[in-house]
Amino acid sequence: MSPQRPITPQHVAFIMDGNGRWAKQRLLPRAAGHAKGASQVRKVIENCVARGISHVTLYAFSTENWARPSDEVSALMGLFLKYLRGEVADMRENGIRLRVLGDISAFSTEIQAAVRDAEESTAHNSRLSLHVAANYGGRNELLGAMKAWMKANPGAPPEALDAAGIEAYLYTKDLPAPDLLIRTGGECRLSNFLLWQTAYTELYFTDALWPDFDAAALDKALIWFKGRERRFGKTSEQVQL
Ligand code: FPP
Repeated sequence: MSPQRPITPQHVAFIMDGNGRWAKQRLLPRAAGHAKGASQVRKVIENCVARGISHVTLYAFSTENWARPSDEVSALMGLFLKYLRGEVADMRENGIRLRVLGDISAFSTEIQAAVRDAEESTAHNSRLSLHVAANYGGRNELLGAMKAWMKANPGAPPEALDAAGIEAYLYTKDLPAPDLLIRTGGECRLSNFLLWQTAYTELYFTDALWPDFDAAALDKALIWFKGRERRFGKTSEQVQL
């Protein structure tokens, strides 16, 4: 097997889509779908740990999700706070490091404090790094990185800006790029998620709704990933050398 035939992805990113439809199928309010989706997060993380994946990034709330009905936004905020407070002790004990990617200043002071507490109390862990993208948008992240670079390099000519210059100011600056992105819920798009970081990520789309995304569904995605040839712009012949 060539080194370009990956075995287990180091970093898996998830777009957790389909909570609303899961609820609708059961004649439940959308918030019930998100609650089920939030409980599924724990199982997916456990399954990722068991499979030796070392980084997981979850798209929990986008910069565009503020435009949803206010009761749904409130329900998502409540679930995020509950998750942060309820899972931190188990994360600490199970070697999971939690970090939030995104502009958390838009959240309530309670959520901001819970984020800081969860990040600080799991900072020493290294078994699996869990990155929760919250109030995250790829375009905002890129714009912010370019502005930050310009502020750090006043008067620099445009030619001085390179890829490393941008990466240094992304939320993901010290993370490997995702090897595999899994989107549940049947849509085949990135929806403003990790636009820079997914340049060479393998993209996997499944019709399974997020609350139904169980161990078997993860294994199916990992088997698909094993069959990919990662060429990073080279030819098949080159990477098989
Ligand atoms: C998309 O499904 C899902 C979201 C916008 C929110 C995802 C949030 C969670 C799973 C719970 C909170 C997260 C954590 C980390 C505790 P959708 O509502 O667009 O579903 P639909 O397409 O079926 O309507």
